Amino acid sequence: MFVISAEEFSLWKKKQILKGGDNNSLNLLIDSLAGLSNKDLNLLKIKSDENINLKINLDLLEIFWDKHLKTSIPIQHLSGISFWRNLKLEVSNKVLIPRPETELVIEIIAGIFQNKEEKITFVDLGTGSGAISIALALANPNWNGIATDIDENAIEIASRNFANNSNKSNLKFINGNWWDPLANYKGKIDLAVVNPPYIPQDTYEVLPLEVKNFEPKNALLGGKEGLDHINEIVKNAPIFLKHRGWLLIENHFDQGDRVKQLFLENRFTSIKVLKDFSGIGRFTLGRYK
Ligand SMILES: C[S@@+](CC[C@H](N)C(=O)[O-])C[C@H]1O[C@@H](n2cnc3c(N)ncnc32)[C@H](O)[C@@H]1O
Repeated sequence: MFVISAEEFSLWKKKQILKGGDNNSLNLLIDSLAGLSNKDLNLLKIKSDENINLKINLDLLEIFWDKHLKTSIPIQHLSGISFWRNLKLEVSNKVLIPRPETELVIEIIAGIFQNKEEKITFVDLGTGSGAISIALALANPNWNGIATDIDENAIEIASRNFANNSNKSNLKFINGNWWDPLANYKGKIDLAVVNPPYIPQDTYEVLPLEVKNFEPKNALLGGKEGLDHINEIVKNAPIFLKHRGWLLIENHFDQGDRVKQLFLENRFTSIKVLKDFSGIGRFTLGRYK
């Protein structure tokens, strides 16, 4: 631990932000590497005469901040950590950094399955860091989950994240293309949740460098119109879902109506396009017949 005065720390922080970047990113770096959370930082404003403990010294923290400013490497890649809901997840350039808008998926699902005694089988297709499946498995210890991803590195990272966040064994990870690894689960799945790559080609080309240069293309790009993967997932869902099973898909901000149409064409019912925190139709939900 490195002990410094709150005053010295405040001066250091002001100096860093004058170099560029934004306050949220700097706070995230401080939280991830020095172990000082936003709450701790706010407390410092009223306890400015106290000393604080940091996990790494300010010179080292400054080296990371300068690297972020110079290269645009996401803070989460520099620290190897992403905070998502109440989880602390390992991330690297092999997995998407889980996004805040995706957090709502967990609330939507909690709204569907209100009976906590119910035992269900769920799948998270394209699990990446494992964020969605781990949050569901932790919140519902009597559920059984299977998380898949085409990328073996993602499966390794997600498995480690589960082991580091849970002492249960109610979640399995399998490598493979969308539904392919689930041949033994035909007609047995109560809930499938997917945050697939859905960015259209032209939007992908102009993504901020911090995203395009550092996050995996196969986690983002969804073909010319962004719907290639969503099409494949919805088309095959009826083979794997139970009668009245649920499918919840995250989509791009302007795809809600087209994804709803796809659900209809594949005989889903009770279809809804649900909004995210910005009022955007971000999630499509439906039941198989
Ligand atoms: C948008 S990311 C979502 C990651 C994670 N579920 C989340 O919400 O943070 C999409 C994920 O789908 C995976 N993926 C891409 N193509 C796939 C495919 N054909 N089959 C299975 N997974 C795929 C990517 O490797 C990536 O992890």
